[in-house]
Amino acid sequence: MGCSSRWNCCAWWGSEAFSTLKLLFLVPLIVVVGFASVKGPSLCRWGFIADCSVSFTPLPSSSNSSSQILHQSKETEVFNVSKPEFNLAPVNKPDESHPRLKQKRKFSFLDRTEVVLAQARAAIREARNRNRTLDSDYVPTGPMYWNAKAFHRSYLEMEKQFKVFVYEEGETPVFHNGPCKSIYSMEGNFIHAIEMNDHFRTKDPKKAHVFFLPFSVVMMVRFVYERDSRDFGPIKKTVIDYVNLIATRYPYWNRSLGADHFMLACHDWGPEASFSLPYLHKNSIRVLCNANTSEGFKPAKDVSFPEINLQTGSINGFVGGPSASKRSILAFFAGGVHGPIRPILLEHWENKDEDIQVHKYLPKGVSYYGMLRKSKFCLCPSGYEVASPRVVEAIYTGCVPVLISEHYVPPFSDVLNWKSFSVELSVKDIPILKDILMSISPRQHIRMQRRVGQIRRHFEVHSPPKRFDVFHMILHSVWLRRLNFRVRDDQ
Ligand SMILES: *[C@@H]1O[C@H](CO)[C@@H](O)[C@H](O)[C@H]1NC(C)=O
Ligand SMILES: *[C@@H]1O[C@H](CO)[C@@H](O)[C@H](O)[C@H]1NC(C)=O
Ligand SMILES: *[C@@H]1O[C@H](CO)[C@@H](O)[C@H](O)[C@H]1NC(C)=O
Ligand SMILES: *[C@@H]1O[C@H](CO)[C@@H](O)[C@H](O)[C@H]1NC(C)=O
Ligand SMILES: *[C@@H]1O[C@H](CO)[C@@H](O)[C@H](O)[C@H]1NC(C)=O
Repeated sequence: MGCSSRWNCCAWWGSEAFSTLKLLFLVPLIVVVGFASVKGPSLCRWGFIADCSVSFTPLPSSSNSSSQILHQSKETEVFNVSKPEFNLAPVNKPDESHPRLKQKRKFSFLDRTEVVLAQARAAIREARNRNRTLDSDYVPTGPMYWNAKAFHRSYLEMEKQFKVFVYEEGETPVFHNGPCKSIYSMEGNFIHAIEMNDHFRTKDPKKAHVFFLPFSVVMMVRFVYERDSRDFGPIKKTVIDYVNLIATRYPYWNRSLGADHFMLACHDWGPEASFSLPYLHKNSIRVLCNANTSEGFKPAKDVSFPEINLQTGSINGFVGGPSASKRSILAFFAGGVHGPIRPILLEHWENKDEDIQVHKYLPKGVSYYGMLRKSKFCLCPSGYEVASPRVVEAIYTGCVPVLISEHYVPPFSDVLNWKSFSVELSVKDIPILKDILMSISPRQHIRMQRRVGQIRRHFEVHSPPKRFDVFHMILHSVWLRRLNFRVRDDQ
């Protein structure tokens, strides 16, 4: 099992029927470790305007930093490339670290890693006021970016420095594997892409900035969860056993209490899976499609994972659409009535107005993609989970997305200014949806549509990945969160 060919791995998996027999190959990971006494590793969030003291002296061994770490996210502030305070911040402070390093203490690998991150932070801060950096294939620019220059510099620093260690423990189908088709396709695509990647992936954990826990929640639901049981126990046990295994075999989990580790999930049970272990949801970077802030999603620490419905495993044939003037429908939605928002949308707009095409089911012979391409605005209400694959479908087809959600953090919102290329509505706006869309002038719509076309590259799925595509943007989101704190070694 595993990936036979190097790059069309995902396609290969997608076309293969899953057999429960594969479960037999699952090596049980039964290592029971308690959380009882956690030695005090220490971790300090920069928040980029941080006042973390930048000494490399280890904390006194008696210090009890576990509670501090558990609550770290409270005082965190993500390194947000939009933050204007950047310029005003006492920017030089954190980066005084290099001279201080000349102290007696021998540098550990970790110290060196942290110096690299400190330099990257400084370079990004500086880039905000600098001239544009040249780039052979893409230079981000325009109002879609909070700060295009800072983003570009951060992206380049990521390419230069960022290293990810992927734990090799665990067997397919649940580990090192994931779906590459369907609305959950990003789980499989990301897992395969990072495992195949020889630029960002390092086999040497000492050189890593982050550690990836390569499990797929969708695969757990398929192979570990007992159907219709509503019992999360087996999924939780799989996650707990895995983390305990890597925490016993390697020093890294204990060193940061999981803060420099990341997991991902596109399944709506992703948050639930992360609740298996307190440090996993409180400290680790969780890359989640279900980026629901009222279910504990923390934008400063967690990453909003775009939900992309890859029906064929590839974006070929799904990308592109006519210009604004060739779109006759004002707004369009078709889809299942689930979750708290869609019933309200259908109640107000199903069969009510020619301009607002809202359907449960499309009439026979009407193409869903055809409708997306004929519409100026595409409605993307949350369903069972806050993310909707419609957002990316709209972006692919050149339709301006209208996000109707609550507590949702859209992907890459620390880099992208969603308001410049999408409309964000709350549930109470549903009755006046038409008025709101009509109040957007044709000129403004054309501008927004053009920007949708410009940011589309950040949502495209390529195999192998291309610069600035969705794989790299997800990785960049993890990189930004990793830049935001420092791990100390108390050895
Ligand atoms: C460490 O902090 C926790 C949480 O505040 C507390 O319950 C525990 O007693 C402390 N342990 C020590 C050794 O101070
Ligand atoms: C930035 O560009 C301007 C005009 O092209 C040039 O005069 C200036 O020297 C550049 N500054 C830097 C720091 O490269
Ligand atoms: C990490 O901590 C756990 C629980 O305290 C302990 O059982 C385990 O041995 C530690 N791992 C390492 C590599 O020291
Ligand atoms: C987001 O989380 C809240 C709190 O658990 C829940 O009430 C709401 O339904 C969730 N939203 C969606 C769309 O699932
Ligand atoms: C980034 O900053 C902008 C402007 O201050 C804010 O609107 C946006 O929500 C922030 N994004 C995150 C992820 O904090």
